[in-house]
Amino acid sequence: MCGIVGAIAKRNVVPILIEGLKRLEYRGYDSAGVAVLNGTLQRVRSTGRVAELEKMAASQGVSGDLGIAHTRWATHGVPSERNAHPHVSGGISVVHNGIIENHEAMRQKLRALGYEFLSDTDTEVIAHLVHSHVKTGRGLFEAVRQATSELVGAYAIAVLNEKDKTHLVVARHGAPLLLGVGEGELFAASDASALVQVTQKIIYLEDGDCAELTLDGAKIFDDKGNATNRAVHVSQLTPDAVELGSYRHYMQKEIFEQPMAVANTLEMVTSAQTLSANLFGVEAENILSQINQMLILACGTSYHAGVVARYWLEGIAGVPCNVEIASEYRYRDSVPDPRCLVITISQSGETADTLAALQYAKSLGHKHSLSICNVPESALLRASDLRFLTRAGPEIGVASTKAFTTQLAALALLTLAVAKLKGRLTAEREAQLLKELRHLPSALTTVLHVEPQVKMWAEKFTNMQHALFLGRGIHWPIAMEGALKLKEISYIHAEAYAAGELKHGPLALVDKTMPVVAIAPNDALLEKLKSNLQEVRARGGELHVLADQDTRIMPAEGLHVIRMPDHAGMLSPILHTIPLQLLAYHAALERGNDVDKPRNLAKSVTVE
Ligand code: G6P
Repeated sequence: MCGIVGAIAKRNVVPILIEGLKRLEYRGYDSAGVAVLNGTLQRVRSTGRVAELEKMAASQGVSGDLGIAHTRWATHGVPSERNAHPHVSGGISVVHNGIIENHEAMRQKLRALGYEFLSDTDTEVIAHLVHSHVKTGRGLFEAVRQATSELVGAYAIAVLNEKDKTHLVVARHGAPLLLGVGEGELFAASDASALVQVTQKIIYLEDGDCAELTLDGAKIFDDKGNATNRAVHVSQLTPDAVELGSYRHYMQKEIFEQPMAVANTLEMVTSAQTLSANLFGVEAENILSQINQMLILACGTSYHAGVVARYWLEGIAGVPCNVEIASEYRYRDSVPDPRCLVITISQSGETADTLAALQYAKSLGHKHSLSICNVPESALLRASDLRFLTRAGPEIGVASTKAFTTQLAALALLTLAVAKLKGRLTAEREAQLLKELRHLPSALTTVLHVEPQVKMWAEKFTNMQHALFLGRGIHWPIAMEGALKLKEISYIHAEAYAAGELKHGPLALVDKTMPVVAIAPNDALLEKLKSNLQEVRARGGELHVLADQDTRIMPAEGLHVIRMPDHAGMLSPILHTIPLQLLAYHAALERGNDVDKPRNLAKSVTVE
């Protein structure tokens, strides 16, 4: 987590650093800070948001043409000014994203050298360590290289030295960092969106790279210390892709962008009459025809996409499929199978647990991997043999919305590709399912029209402490996603249950203060679900039901119904996600919460 930005230019870089931080706030917002050189080192830190830092920097007249900046998600040490980055030692100033695992041992060593620690962070170790090497006569670049060779853990860092106005040094290992190339100026940032205002020319640093940034350009050295060239990519990001436009919140914008995001993700099949497995990479046909089972690894919302996919992959493609939470899988003994395809799903492509789970699977002997991810050039995509880039566009709201529905669209394509290779899809069925996929964006637009009704539900949820979400079959993971959305942004405690499990415990909680949301599409489980709903009504529970047109579930006292369009078959889970996102959004709004930046959370979780 945490976002970092650095800049060296012949103009005041403070506005560039601050703008970059605003775009990185999704990575954490416990505190923010900036340090620039203007003769001497000027540092401002705030426990407020970046907007607060901006005011402080302006009122203190902070400016300089070389600087670093940081937005923090607290790991070591509470959110406070003294724990906010940049951390300083002598004239050395450092911003850091990641975790230094050997920070305690390093602290002892540095204390013995006379360094005094002013914060509880692991990062301060880096500042003192670099300083200790500069003191022995090394230049900043050499000092940073020496320091990083002594660090264990993950880091992306940007470092400056008060005594040297000519360069910045950056390094990365296990956390993302890229360079932005301007006209006679250079930038560094955790992701390309932070630099969209100044350049679209991006150099992605590789793990282990260390670079010296001057006005003349970047000198990059790889993990073995050899000078190296890294390609310059032209980012497709445009400034308006990360602007709010007419929306009040990014989450709202991203919910309403879903028809377009899904259309973009499915673009490769919109004009095709048949599906090619090579959508997933040139080796896909070869690999997918060899595999005999799948293992999906992911976290959070991406995990829920994986659980939906399991129903598709087993039900339609006939391939056995397990889905595991990445942080659990990576620490348990399991039995590898060289014919298993390991699928990782991640919006960011940098979630530490998901990356580690993939590495662990490989170390156990799994041979084939596929990643579904929304960030080009992310660590996860690069670590996999096969890959699919969802095209949701940048997702800024911490609660994932369009990333989820585009992941589902990608997983639907994967299901069809595998089913076809396994001989389980007739040409007629393939054509029919492709037609349904092509119709999906317009079906999503139709479902968005339920917003006024969902808003009325949300108003009633505002004063509730708890809520229960029920679904059956493939809609059970959608109920899980609905509950996750509600708790993460409205702070209402919400649980999801497979409706058949209700009578085995959670029914004891049901009374009129516990609203129950049920997903009731017209599928094979509808009649079973209706019985579960009766169990709730009989205990006085208020039911809020998403029902397909033809389910014959009628509104009544204590039974509120929102009519969904006709049953969407395989794609029904994607459509049912929309009202649940809107419910969480409006409940959070009613409660006056910061919808895009819920307390204690961050979008990109690069720590265990
Ligand atoms: C965080 C985010 C969630 C996300 C999860 C996994 O918790 O707040 O929205 O689902 O990380 O992230 P990933 O980038 O791997 O999908």
